[in-house]
Amino acid sequence: MTKKLHIKTWGCQMNVYDSDRMADVVAPLGYMPSEDAESADLVIFNTCHIREKATEKLFSELGRLPALQKEKKAKGERMIIAVAGCVAQAEGAEIQRRAPYVDMVFGPQTYHQLPEMIARVTREAGMVLNTEFPVEPKFDALPQQSKTGIGAFLSIQEGCDKFCTFCVVPYTRGAEYSRSVKSIVSEAENLVANGAREITLLGQNVNAFHGEGEDGTVWGLGQLFYRLAEIPHLKRLRYMTSHPRDMDDALIAAHRDIPQLMPFLHLPVQSGSDSILEAMNRKHTGDDYRRIIDKLRAVRPDIALSSDFIVGFPGESDADHKATMQLVRDIGFAQAYSFKYSRRPGTPAAAMVNQVPEEVMDARLQELQALLREQQISFNQSLIGKVLPVLFDDDGRHNGQLHGRSPYAQSTYIDIPAVARERINGQEVMVKIISANQSSLNGAVAVD
Ligand code: SAH
Ligand code: SF4
Ligand code: F3S
Repeated sequence: MTKKLHIKTWGCQMNVYDSDRMADVVAPLGYMPSEDAESADLVIFNTCHIREKATEKLFSELGRLPALQKEKKAKGERMIIAVAGCVAQAEGAEIQRRAPYVDMVFGPQTYHQLPEMIARVTREAGMVLNTEFPVEPKFDALPQQSKTGIGAFLSIQEGCDKFCTFCVVPYTRGAEYSRSVKSIVSEAENLVANGAREITLLGQNVNAFHGEGEDGTVWGLGQLFYRLAEIPHLKRLRYMTSHPRDMDDALIAAHRDIPQLMPFLHLPVQSGSDSILEAMNRKHTGDDYRRIIDKLRAVRPDIALSSDFIVGFPGESDADHKATMQLVRDIGFAQAYSFKYSRRPGTPAAAMVNQVPEEVMDARLQELQALLREQQISFNQSLIGKVLPVLFDDDGRHNGQLHGRSPYAQSTYIDIPAVARERINGQEVMVKIISANQSSLNGAVAVD
């Protein structure tokens, strides 16, 4: 009998990947994905803990479920409610206390055990709490991915040993773990066989990857890319999120040598001030970051850069903020994410005495975002008149439109007659860029 599975996902791409894999794990039990929470037999909230209010948001979302659960019960059916992901890992006990109607709470490392957890919930009353970091690696226990789009995510590394003083990830995802090259290659081949043409390798610290290679030695990310580039029909490779400390020469060489590796890199810097970077425990300076970018641009001059910034880390002065603004001007970003510092319980920075007032953070964030926006628009506009390979992957925003991605990861739209759509979707096609705004490009198929 088919049952309805409703998953709601917050947070990073790794959570998006995990949600898809959870669906794969429960598919053999008859659960089919559904948009509809109301009549779902299994509801999973896959949560994120990275910034403030995540827990409160979760409880308010959860609040509407007991009524739905009761309605199902009145019909003699059951709604199983599960909280997964990083809030589950960090606040398992709190969820158990405040939302006793939740049937399962499990962290990012145990969802391969979902069938056993579901069996236990069905058999026994009471909540299943599963927030261990099991020794048995989850990836070996997961089934093959059943479906994929043209663009696919593939987690190759999890966890973090870096302990930046503001960040919860080392606590919610656990220690760094890298999958074996063999299992990654086999998952990539399976994705391509199912239609994927672009794969984004994921990891909280993806470039800290150090998996067992095909020859039994330890391979880094650079070496892995050379191997993945051998897979026929896999047109594009990307990766995120990287740490500056792990941007080694082999990875930079991969950007030089591998045409499938797209000229786009998301490399969080967080701040341009060396004293703030030190207090954050980033273990790199602003100039280290500049040197890495110089090296990348030397081998791949068109590489487009993205980053993450935190404003208002404890102790951040006006001069520190100016150093961040200067770094942004020096590098020139194609896009970036910026956040106000958020005090996370249990992290070292939360206990620092010199927290920055909210209004100061607001002003700094506005100033930074204005500069980043300006850079993004000017980067996008610099492509007008150019002809770029665009990989088409989906319908556009309106009828007759197709969506694709430029090499620099921008959403790119073309208008195209219905007859040509099938032919173009999944293909890399040369597109002349006609116009650009902050978040996307518009173009037309280039005729040569
Ligand atoms: N592993 C990645 C990023 C993980 S979290 C890295 O090392 O860069 C994604 C982004 O969220 C971070 O880059 C950071 O900019 C932001 N972030 C993490 N913790 C935060 C906090 N406490 N307050 C504000 N932003 C935070
Ligand atoms: Fe968090 Fe730092 Fe690890 Fe990134 S490197 S996940 S910011 S602790
Ligand atoms: Fe959020 Fe966990 Fe990802 S805290 S950003 S879902 S690793």
